[in-house]
Amino acid sequence: MRIFIALDIPQEIRSRIIRFCEGLRAFAPDANWVRPESFHLTLKFVGEKSEADVESLKSALHGLQARPTTVAFRGLGFFPNPKAPRVFWVGVHGDEHLPALALAVDQAASALGIPREEHAFHPHLTLARAGSGSPRPRPGERSNPRLKRLMDKLSSFPDPDFGTMTAREFYLYQSQLSPAGARYTRLERFALG
Ligand code: 2AM
Repeated sequence: MRIFIALDIPQEIRSRIIRFCEGLRAFAPDANWVRPESFHLTLKFVGEKSEADVESLKSALHGLQARPTTVAFRGLGFFPNPKAPRVFWVGVHGDEHLPALALAVDQAASALGIPREEHAFHPHLTLARAGSGSPRPRPGERSNPRLKRLMDKLSSFPDPDFGTMTAREFYLYQSQLSPAGARYTRLERFALG
């Protein structure tokens, strides 16, 4: 199964983001908007793993030592860059425990043979994707216009503030891909403390 590790978002913040997005969808109707119930903050994407590997990963993550983390959801942005926007996201501003958690997760996973992250941790909450949805430039890929009008519209907006949470847990998620978009299910909860 296809898995990743992430923080969940409280309903209050989720609702503010949903309300904000309602007025924006018309500016990018052809983008793939993430279902509101699927909003999450990815700590590490793992990919396809066997049931046995998933069980080993659960055990490793239960043994992980990390602190609760306070995270503010503020501002908006586009990956990989404003010239060729493919991922539209909400800014995530965590305290020092957030990158420490992502690192601890990466280390725990690597002990099971899962490759370490090659890129720096850029926490974000994805709202919509277009084209390949790749956060990084891809050779040969032409810029996709589906998020461009939205980006132009937002350039005159002040940075929205969606609130702050303290995460006291994180989750192993399953991702099920379908033509209607990815569906994410929480498989296991891990306490922070
Ligand atoms: P994204 O929101 O920036 O697309 C589930 O797919 C989660 O894992 C998403 O939050 C996604 O980030 C993240 N992710 C990171 N690397 C990925 C990859 N190579 N393929 C799919 N998802 C990835």
